Amino acid sequence: MEAGGGDAELGGGLGDADGDLAAIGDQEFFQHVDALRGKTPPMSKRLLIVAHAPSENTLSLRGAVERGALSETGIDVRVVAPLQAGPDDVLAAQAVILGTTENLGYMSGALKDFFDRSYNPLLEKTQGLPAALYIRAGSDGTGTRRGVETILTGLRWRLVQEPLLCKGPWQPAFVEQCEELGAAMAAGLAAGIF
Ligand SMILES: Cc1cc2nc3c(=O)[nH]c(=O)nc-3n(C[C@H](O)[C@H](O)[C@H](O)COP(=O)(O)O)c2cc1C
Repeated sequence: MEAGGGDAELGGGLGDADGDLAAIGDQEFFQHVDALRGKTPPMSKRLLIVAHAPSENTLSLRGAVERGALSETGIDVRVVAPLQAGPDDVLAAQAVILGTTENLGYMSGALKDFFDRSYNPLLEKTQGLPAALYIRAGSDGTGTRRGVETILTGLRWRLVQEPLLCKGPWQPAFVEQCEELGAAMAAGLAAGIF
């Protein structure tokens, strides 16, 4: 292949369909490359955390999930309370971590409200979305797990981790477990495992 032809190919790959780059000098060429780099930042993957945190303990769990997720570089982590979260937040994310308390044998009203507003807009648009769930329950948690899993089945989201149940009297170990959950989700997303 001739040298000129090689340059023209390189220019074409850099958005120079008409081959003008083949005719410019080195300095201009590298300026063009720098300009293109500035315009096209690499796409980062977003991990959305939608978690209800009505108490100090549950705030520390949500904080731990976020901290774990942020331990992975290159992942954009977004934390939104369920009452503020909506379908657009989910559509902008590549994975979701849900968190809720158990109240009266079911997920918190706040998380249920998020699903009530988001279910139909997301249906058929987010099949296969990798998801994880943690539950803070004073004594049980099974009704909450069942309720969330039923909704995720309808949405066809994929629970890529066993739901984490932080059940019974408060234990500092819950914080560690939540941090590990956040880190594992972010790592899986970064590695393209999900
Ligand atoms: C109105 C109300 C209902 C609750 N219902 C349940 C329940 O059905 N099952 C359960 O395991 N815990 C229940 N709990 C306990 C909460 O899940 C728990 O207090 C909450 O997750 C906050 O955790 P923390 O007390 O460690 O901050 C209930 C709490 C309240 C205030």
